[in-house]
Amino acid sequence: AGAHTADLVVFGGTGDLAMRKLIPALYHSDRDGRLSPESRVIAMSRGGLTDADFRGKVDAEVRDQVPADDQAGWQRFLGRLHHVSVDVGRDVTGTGTGTGGTDRQGWGALTRLLAGHEQRDRVFYLASPPRTFGPFCRELDEAGLVTPSSRVVLEKPLGHDLTSAQRINDEVGAIFDERQIFRIDHYLGKETVQNLLVLRFANAFLEPIWNSLWIDHVQITAAETVGTPGRRGYYDHAGALRDMVQNHLLQLLTLTAMEPPARSDREAVRDEKVKVLQALRPITGTEADRFTVRGQYVGADDMPGYLDEPASTPPTEASRRVETFTAIRAEVKNWRWAGVPFYLRTGKRMPYRRSEIVVQFKDVPHSIYPGGAPNRLVLRLQPEEGIRLHIMAKEPGAGDVTLKPVPLSLSFGETFSTRVPEAYERLLTDVLAGNPTLFMRRDEVEAAWRWIDPILQAWESQAELPEPYAAGTTGPAGAHELLGRSGRAWHEDDA
Ligand code: BG6
Repeated sequence: AGAHTADLVVFGGTGDLAMRKLIPALYHSDRDGRLSPESRVIAMSRGGLTDADFRGKVDAEVRDQVPADDQAGWQRFLGRLHHVSVDVGRDVTGTGTGTGGTDRQGWGALTRLLAGHEQRDRVFYLASPPRTFGPFCRELDEAGLVTPSSRVVLEKPLGHDLTSAQRINDEVGAIFDERQIFRIDHYLGKETVQNLLVLRFANAFLEPIWNSLWIDHVQITAAETVGTPGRRGYYDHAGALRDMVQNHLLQLLTLTAMEPPARSDREAVRDEKVKVLQALRPITGTEADRFTVRGQYVGADDMPGYLDEPASTPPTEASRRVETFTAIRAEVKNWRWAGVPFYLRTGKRMPYRRSEIVVQFKDVPHSIYPGGAPNRLVLRLQPEEGIRLHIMAKEPGAGDVTLKPVPLSLSFGETFSTRVPEAYERLLTDVLAGNPTLFMRRDEVEAAWRWIDPILQAWESQAELPEPYAAGTTGPAGAHELLGRSGRAWHEDDA
């Protein structure tokens, strides 16, 4: 109710992210009444499309996600779509000194479209490469398009290391106030991620045991079955550490480890998250040999290796060195977590798609039955969202007591019959409402890079290539040794 009228300008508006995630999310927001009737979506791209062309493209690519009984709603949504061609390739020099041969026509067309609508909320969504962020913000400013109620949304990757992240933040910050800047990490829009906070801070029973006295260690896994076909250009220079750990996995770690905030508001939550990042023990130099593992998948069965994935260019030295899997033993050096390892792992071409946080409790202090196993709390983000607490139970029978671990299981799908919104839907709703709680603040992004940078540097100085692992397996031997050294193992069961 009371949705503001908004003009949403999407740079990279015909790109993969826009077509796969943003447009469907906006359609669902519209369908649920969260877009006011006059709101518009303006896609910016080099494509030279008319409004009608763009609507046709969206209709062709997204229509199969529209329920049969909502054809009228779909037509109304298509009517909100506009397209403005701007030769972004020519615009952007990436030198930070101006935008060079600017495509005045394109910016002029955007200016005309927005003219007379200054009172609307304006959202500039930068789903374009990060080198364009600064130049686009300057263009918007020079064209006088940035109003006090404007917001800017930045997609990842937010830089390549700390220095480049700071530069992007400076460039965008020169035009927009921090309160207007929304840095997306789509993991924060996932239902279970928010449920983690509810589980911790709206229930009394967990918090007293949520510390090093009771918890042995934490495992955070984001495993994917997909490889990187067609993505080598990006991935060669990203790798799993930048692509998944710097953002998604560290976000999950902060939410798991943070102190209870005083309020659920934007700054209180983000303040606590930053403190966790600042408490991470740095991994530098040769420590990276002990606390981190790099892997790259090689062909197995009918799956190609990383170097054989279809790509427009042949593999280079960078391709050979890039990690498609990483595992890290992190430590949060504060009172609550001293001595509790946080194991992070993520990889492409693993045997299952699964993102989860596993909290492994300590064993009972004194055991009176043979064969017990410690309790474990598993928060599953995907594929099926749910929470499981593994407890010990007695197997039915008259003889000796036999223990069996059984799960107390909460499946969100079964418990709540409502449609679970996609992460992007949730986040776009928050952008339109001006609520930045689930977005990364500047100091948060930079604190994450500050911890990642020394690992990247250590890896660069290592002569060895990443350890090979066969496509379709759980990663290289080193990943298992990382836990095995202390008698622990990755949680693989309960699929
Ligand atoms: C993206 C990464 O941020 O997250 C991709 O760039 C990865 O490489 C994706 O596949 C995973 O997202 P999800 O929501 O499928 O876990």
